[in-house]
Amino acid sequence: MVDGRQTCFEGYSKDNCTMSDHPHVYPVSDDVASKAWADKATYRKLYQQSVEDPQGFWKEQAARLDWIKAPRTIKNTSYASGNVDIRWFEDGTLNVSANCLDRHLATRGDQTAIIWEGDDPNESAHITYRELYERTCQLANALKSLGVKKGDTVTLYMPMIPEAAMAMLACARLGAVHSVVFGGFSPDALAQRVKDAASRVVITADESVRGGKQVPLKDNVDAALTRDGTDVAETVLVVKRTGGDIEWNEGRDVWYHELVDGQSTDCPAEEVNAEDPLFILYTSGSTGTPKGLKHTSGGYLAYASLTHQYVFDYRDAEVYWCTADVGWITGHSYIVYGPLANGATTLMFEGVPSYPTHGRMGDIVDKHQVSILYTAPTAVRALMAHGDNVMDSSKRDSLRLLGSVGEPINPEAWEWYHRVIGNGKCPIVDTWWQTETGGIMITPLPGATDLKPGSATLPFFGVQPALVDNEGNLLEGAADGNLVILDAWPGQARSIWGNHERFVQTYFSTYEGMYFTGDGCRRDEDGYYWITGRVDDVLNVSGHRMGTAEIESSLVAHDAVAEAAVVGFPHDIKGQGIYIYVTLTDEVEPSEELRKELTQWVRKDIGPIASPDHIQWAPSLPKTRSGKIMRRILRKIAANECDGLGDTSTLADPSVVDDLIEHRAIR
Ligand code: WTA
Repeated sequence: MVDGRQTCFEGYSKDNCTMSDHPHVYPVSDDVASKAWADKATYRKLYQQSVEDPQGFWKEQAARLDWIKAPRTIKNTSYASGNVDIRWFEDGTLNVSANCLDRHLATRGDQTAIIWEGDDPNESAHITYRELYERTCQLANALKSLGVKKGDTVTLYMPMIPEAAMAMLACARLGAVHSVVFGGFSPDALAQRVKDAASRVVITADESVRGGKQVPLKDNVDAALTRDGTDVAETVLVVKRTGGDIEWNEGRDVWYHELVDGQSTDCPAEEVNAEDPLFILYTSGSTGTPKGLKHTSGGYLAYASLTHQYVFDYRDAEVYWCTADVGWITGHSYIVYGPLANGATTLMFEGVPSYPTHGRMGDIVDKHQVSILYTAPTAVRALMAHGDNVMDSSKRDSLRLLGSVGEPINPEAWEWYHRVIGNGKCPIVDTWWQTETGGIMITPLPGATDLKPGSATLPFFGVQPALVDNEGNLLEGAADGNLVILDAWPGQARSIWGNHERFVQTYFSTYEGMYFTGDGCRRDEDGYYWITGRVDDVLNVSGHRMGTAEIESSLVAHDAVAEAAVVGFPHDIKGQGIYIYVTLTDEVEPSEELRKELTQWVRKDIGPIASPDHIQWAPSLPKTRSGKIMRRILRKIAANECDGLGDTSTLADPSVVDDLIEHRAIR
């Protein structure tokens, strides 16, 4: 699985792959440091305490939450093989939605909790903490009336509208477990997740709106629920977002407004254990079907809240905007749970950054006076491609901090983000983390960390990163290796839904006693971490995680396809693009129509985010004598790096490679 590809992440062009040799360092400004939650000395002190005395540190941090019963046992975690067991605050009880809503009512009931900005620039709304509380309670009561109770799972397949946050919080209020499925996923992908989580209720909308176009969410749910094994879903609760035409399934479908609007605005918050599940979130791995990572309540919320405060240096009354979708972990932790636990004003955007113009992000910043903007490198690169004037319709002088997440940000995009979007005055926090980690792990703190463009810099409190070689030996000092985490932190996933063995196998068996991230990484002489990209067969396309195996199994299900191999290749905007080698069945001839058909096939099967960039017809694939496809070679050919293919002598038939080189898609 791990092939030691560690030096230069695939998304960098050769020219800017300078990594730690990059000459620019942006020191912390005195002004920022003096106002920040942590300056250098505070960071050092708290970090040291967090790793030397995790019990003491996290006991103090637990106090940031309102507990029904305060925890006395703080950390009880084991990474030992055969006994991976992670518990935080295990004898404490609380309710997550009460922590995000009820406890703010006395002091900030009239403060805006969510600013909603519609796809249409003329549509927006402000929802106060009191309104959010009341509407969440109504929805929780509605779910109760449908029979949802503590421990049940509810699948959300929703647009970026406030009801999505309300649905998450309403589940949390009842102690039910939500599973949010990104609205861009196909009916099949949705069906698989409804089935795996055994959700009795699905919450959706008639349609979502993105970039002026409607996306038929309800139609997709209808299609998904015809698939085998999805008959667990008894009720589909439908938000009327656009009023577009939809089919109605009497007895199963319920209009949201008809059921929810008449409910009481009070709903008692269920007492749950700190280790009771809060949500499941599916993500791709290098093999098999997507994994439902299980996140629990107390540790997750404490970690989301602490990281949100320190990494974004959040101060009262500021407007904070994370551009992610709630279908991803970034939306969970940094649109909903972290900000709301901290009583922040969080902006939620329904649309896309390019609509109606490429200046939209800047326009939103000005319109709502956003102080903190957290987005993905792919969005920055897409804007950068339109030149320095792309944001001229806005001033963006309310911004004081920028954030980046989802993939490595190349120094060139970092500099542009800093200079153009941030007017040269905002520090950038490049935050490395994963669905599995629940919250930010390696990151600068704006008042404490000198910045090096392209580096996620230093570990957050309680996080002990390390680098190992392929044999699992710890590497000291400046080094290049596989990124592992040596000990547990409260935000980490506890298991894979219904399959703890797979959890242990995937994350704790590659290197004994350590959590393996799947990422390659380099540490420089200052101890700064530079993530170099995945070392396994996971692609990161525009910050979306995808398993090559998922796309391959979709393709081989097509009658014309005998075999398929999927690799990533460097892509200027997306970071990585999807390059597919297809071997057709004997009687089928390659054609342009077939290429289009296969492209549509994958889009339909998985979703538009999995659209292939290139399909190359491959009469055969390079395999070892034991039949294993040599992806290293396929990656090189896809990247048009045909000179350094390395040793091909172990191939069963080395001549295969010449044909692939001759017909490569990129040259
Ligand atoms: C990549 C997203 C470099 C990494 C929160 C990781 C990053 C995967 C960064 C997780 C970053 C995320 N620098 N790489 N700042 N942030 N990644 O689960 O490869 O969607 O393993 O979580 O994204 O993606 P996921």
